Amino acid sequence: MVALVGAHTIGFSHCKEFANRIFHFSKTSEVDPAYNPTYAQGLRKLCHNYTKDPAMSAFNDVYTPGKFDNMYYKNLQRGLGLLSSDQAMVTDPRTKPFVDRYAANQTEFFDMFGRSMLKLSLFMVKENNDGDVRRRCDQFNTIQI
Ligand code: HEM
Repeated sequence: MVALVGAHTIGFSHCKEFANRIFHFSKTSEVDPAYNPTYAQGLRKLCHNYTKDPAMSAFNDVYTPGKFDNMYYKNLQRGLGLLSSDQAMVTDPRTKPFVDRYAANQTEFFDMFGRSMLKLSLFMVKENNDGDVRRRCDQFNTIQI
């Protein structure tokens, strides 16, 4: 799973996906203390108007957003993981060793990413009444009754 989520080395996420981490995080802190503070301030600025402009988004990998590399894992080590599910991989002792390995060794990340994608493709694909391979990740292809 840690290798697969490395796909977040590209693309972007809408502000609503991480708004809870930058606005009113807790009673004692506006922002999630797991974030690098400068990064959190940048995200707050970027997303300040997100309820009125829901298209507002941030790159998943702040340093090399258009490049498929292992920067995503280096970011996680520095509090630059955008989503809480990204951050959780470096906080949880079960997944952190993999984050550290992929951050240190891009070749290993590429190898494990390829293997994991292949493994995923070998699962039974659910069709018809069992499931949907979605054209849009956030919508059923057809209205389900
Ligand atoms: C723990 C598992 C995962 C979670 C919770 C997760 C969550 C998300 C969320 C919330 C977004 C932002 C969507 C948006 O704002 O429109 C996103 C974007 C993205 N995710 Fe994941 N993801 C996961 C695993 C994966 C995996 C396994 C892949 C591919 C192998 C992947 C590839 C991507 C890509 C490429 C984007 C950017 C999409 C774009 O730029 O349009 N994610 N993910």
